[in-house]
Amino acid sequence: MREPGTDRLLPLAVGDVLEVTIGQVAHGGHFIAHAHGRTLFVRHAITGETARVKITEVRAKMVRADAIEILVPSPDRVNAPCVFAGPGLCGGCDFQHIALTRQRELKQQVVQDAFRRHAGLADIEIPVVPVAGDNDGLEWRTRVRWGVDRSGKAGFHIFRSSEILPVTKCVIATQGQNAVLEDTYGGAQEVRSAEGSDGTVSIWVSGSGATGSRSTGERRVIQEVLGRRWQVDPASFWQGHVGAPGALVQAVLDLGRPISGETWWDLYSGVGLFSGYLSAAVGPTGKVVAVEGSARSVRDARRNLHRERNIELVEREMGNWLGAPSEPGAVSGIVLDPPRTGAGPLVAAQIAAQKPRVVVYVACDPVALARDVAIFANFGYRLGPALAFDNFPMTHHVEVVATLVPIKGLDPIS
Ligand SMILES: C[S@@+](CC[C@H](N)C(=O)[O-])C[C@H]1O[C@@H](n2cnc3c(N)ncnc32)[C@H](O)[C@@H]1O
Repeated sequence: MREPGTDRLLPLAVGDVLEVTIGQVAHGGHFIAHAHGRTLFVRHAITGETARVKITEVRAKMVRADAIEILVPSPDRVNAPCVFAGPGLCGGCDFQHIALTRQRELKQQVVQDAFRRHAGLADIEIPVVPVAGDNDGLEWRTRVRWGVDRSGKAGFHIFRSSEILPVTKCVIATQGQNAVLEDTYGGAQEVRSAEGSDGTVSIWVSGSGATGSRSTGERRVIQEVLGRRWQVDPASFWQGHVGAPGALVQAVLDLGRPISGETWWDLYSGVGLFSGYLSAAVGPTGKVVAVEGSARSVRDARRNLHRERNIELVEREMGNWLGAPSEPGAVSGIVLDPPRTGAGPLVAAQIAAQKPRVVVYVACDPVALARDVAIFANFGYRLGPALAFDNFPMTHHVEVVATLVPIKGLDPIS
């Protein structure tokens, strides 16, 4: 749009509709487009499409838009399996309109871009593969946090809004959890559900005076992973995809290659998932130290791991625990599975100071991972073999398990 009577382009404003060509995928479920000298971050589009987009947010450094009409569709465009996916609707799934194989290629590209931009590493190609239990990208999510609208109906937040969109089904949740939608929850702030491997569904409601007859209260669910049973409090961290815990444990073992007699640290250990299998690998002459900040998760870990005599469970904030003096070289391998924000420079320095032969980094945010890889390079570690998993189909999220190994000829910091 131009200023009347001039050639000058008007600044973009929320609500403007314009036609653009959709460029490459960006982190966060957006695609890049350009208009009026600005870079647009467009949702609900696919690279190569021509689309009419509506501006939804204008900031100094970024403009957001939704594709509201596709003029030239991509061959990878499909009908979204969920009727609540689309502009102005549920903010949960960003990739429902994209063929599953293409979703995975796009995620691979996002990982590659993250390493190039944030770690200075070009051409890092890690194929994003489905995990066990993949069912065309649907019915994979074993735990859900539902919002509740004013009338007590459960649903999800609209993208970048506090408003709740009531839904009649969530197609990525395991089927049993949709029982949440058979009830209303007057006065509730949130409803949570989790489904165990045995099909047991736990539903609980938060908010004073909240109601909901289907609520089972807080009840542990059973999750079976690689032949081992875990009892997990639904409020403790647990990998969301039904096949993710097994895939990640296997990746940690395959990439880290723990052997008998070694000492391993499992940092940000949650309920002790990785420790359970590391314990068997290092055997009775080895040791695993699992460090986790949440008391509830450590309680779960104690319940699940009390038979393993070679595991030490530590409930501490990570920086505090790593800051305590310890003997460098005493630990062979470290599993590092931090929250989305990543490990950061302090934790990376403290880990490098231990001089492990390998760090196996489990990352749910490729940008945070790439930033940490750059930080580790300053401390004498480089990126080694890595794997990527489609643990969050229909969304832009991706999980990467990457190794960091000492740079030959460079002594890690001491
Ligand atoms: C991504 S989860 C990983 C859990 C576990 N490794 C698993 O796969 O089930 C990250 C964990 O780090 C814990 N955490 C977050 N910040 C922490 C901190 N500063 N110190 C210790 N633990 C922390 C959280 O409670 C959570 O259990």
